[in-house]
Amino acid sequence: MCGIVGFIGDGSPVDAVVAGLKTLEYRGYDSAGVAVVSGRGLETIKAVGRVTALEEKLSSFANECSAAIGHTRWATHGKPIEENAHPHLDASGKIAVVHNGIIENFISLREKLIAEGHKFEGDTDTEVVAHLIGKNYRGDIVEAVETTIAELDGTFALGVICADEPEIIVSVRRGSPLVIGLAEGKTLLGSDAMPILPFTRKAIFLEDDQVACLNKNGCVVREKGKEIPLDITEITWDAEMAEKGGYKHFMLKEIHEQPVVLEKMVRSRIIDSGKNESKESFPTLNVDGLNLDEEYIKKISRIVIIAQGTAYNAGMVGRNMLERVARISSSPEYASDFRYRDPILDSSVLVIAVTQSGETLDTLEGVRMAKESGCKVLSIVNVVGSSIARESDGVFYMNVGPEIGVASTKAFTGMIAAFYVIAIHFGIVTKKLTANETRRRIADLSGIGPRCDAVLSTEQYIKSVAKKYKDATNSLFLGRGTGWPLAMEGALKLKEVSYIHAEGYNAAEMKHGPIALIDENMPVCVIALKGRRYDMIMGNIQEVKARGGKVIAIASHDDEQIADIADDIIYIRAENGIMNSILCSIPLQLLAYHIAEARGCDVDKPKNLAKSVTVK
Ligand code: AGP
Repeated sequence: MCGIVGFIGDGSPVDAVVAGLKTLEYRGYDSAGVAVVSGRGLETIKAVGRVTALEEKLSSFANECSAAIGHTRWATHGKPIEENAHPHLDASGKIAVVHNGIIENFISLREKLIAEGHKFEGDTDTEVVAHLIGKNYRGDIVEAVETTIAELDGTFALGVICADEPEIIVSVRRGSPLVIGLAEGKTLLGSDAMPILPFTRKAIFLEDDQVACLNKNGCVVREKGKEIPLDITEITWDAEMAEKGGYKHFMLKEIHEQPVVLEKMVRSRIIDSGKNESKESFPTLNVDGLNLDEEYIKKISRIVIIAQGTAYNAGMVGRNMLERVARISSSPEYASDFRYRDPILDSSVLVIAVTQSGETLDTLEGVRMAKESGCKVLSIVNVVGSSIARESDGVFYMNVGPEIGVASTKAFTGMIAAFYVIAIHFGIVTKKLTANETRRRIADLSGIGPRCDAVLSTEQYIKSVAKKYKDATNSLFLGRGTGWPLAMEGALKLKEVSYIHAEGYNAAEMKHGPIALIDENMPVCVIALKGRRYDMIMGNIQEVKARGGKVIAIASHDDEQIADIADDIIYIRAENGIMNSILCSIPLQLLAYHIAEARGCDVDKPKNLAKSVTVK
């Protein structure tokens, strides 16, 4: 995890780096630091805790320098103390390094350096990198970095400055994200695009082991010691899109963005909804980026969906859609398990990687393993230009805009909508869907924005329910069919932002164990929409009530029975399968948010978490 930032050129490098670090706090916030080069040489300032703590220390620091690098840390090697905060220095104190990633062979490198007389202040793998660069320095910092990375195993994105070469910053990545921004009279780097967006939209996404030498007028990129042409991308997001927009937290803002971003995404994917009633009139979808030709799709024997966390829960919903709509056998897998097993894969298996950040390490390694086994990989990703997007054969970009809140919300519903479009496309190609059925399914997606808005309009009521349950210590979330992954997601949201212990179960499993936990202190949130499994769910609610449990039901607006048994009911205007899974997610997100708020939790930065998990 961790976030790195760099700035060289006209302006205030320290201010720009600190502002950039604030946008990257979602990657970790155990400690922060900056290093600058100026006429006075190299200086570092570090603080334990949030970037604001660093900012306080910097207020007395003269901001006269040509370049600065900064870091916000999520501790992997060594406690979150100042000694372990980045930037780290080499033995001479003239070279400073910020690092995101993990150096797997750092122990052997460290032992070797200690034997040679090097002394380390902290316990981090990064300090070893700084010492190695210093050891390899012969008056050319770019060459020293190139020599050093050949000795490193693991993942890294590095920013390096050197007191003797104050006019450049050197940067390199292997497996960890890194973006370089090119602006007039200044050049920046960041772990994602947010730190560079206030200055420019022109970006370079480095490939593994490419070394960039940044100066105020641009940068030079080298591969294996030779300069290569710059591959410049135009970023379409702007910094304003990531501001809080008047909401107290990013999480709340992102929940409220769902009507707009989902409507936009759906519209961009439906070229023609097939208004013509004829048997042959299929709707036309925009499947740009999928990069899977029809002959290939017809031959897919099986789909394996790999993901982690919320994206895994979305993958469970996706499995149901692919099976039902496209009739292709599909199974969701935790990428972290998939990559270490010996799964049976061949070229007829399509692997779909689902990820908001596009940087989750286990998912990335799962993609690599799938490709080595001859599978094609399609990814459903939000962050444009991320590692998984770039390494996949095809990409379905959700385009729901930057998600900053650590708890994923709009990306979850974006993933569900993406799966539905993909499932319909596959169903058309494999002729499992008739024109009529396809038109009906496309119609399911229309009006998604106003329907999400209608659910959001119940927020004040959800807030009052949240207040009632804010002091719970344990909770259960139950659902059947697609309600099951939604229950898992509801529980994940609650535990990550409110720290209330929450478990999401398939309601059918309740009798096989969890029922033993139910008493008057156990709130049970049940996804109880009308549909195929409604009677069974009502049976489960009866079982909870018979044991004194409190039931919060998410129910269809026209359900007249549920008021007789549930304690609190959040009604939603349920329409159809796809719509329901998206609509149901919103009250679960709001419930988690308002419970966490009522408990005084730091919603956007829950303890121990980071937005993007780029470690094993
Ligand atoms: C979401 O609320 C979580 N913080 C987390 O489970 C997240 O979904 C998971 O780490 C996967 O992230 P990704 O979508 O960026 O791959």
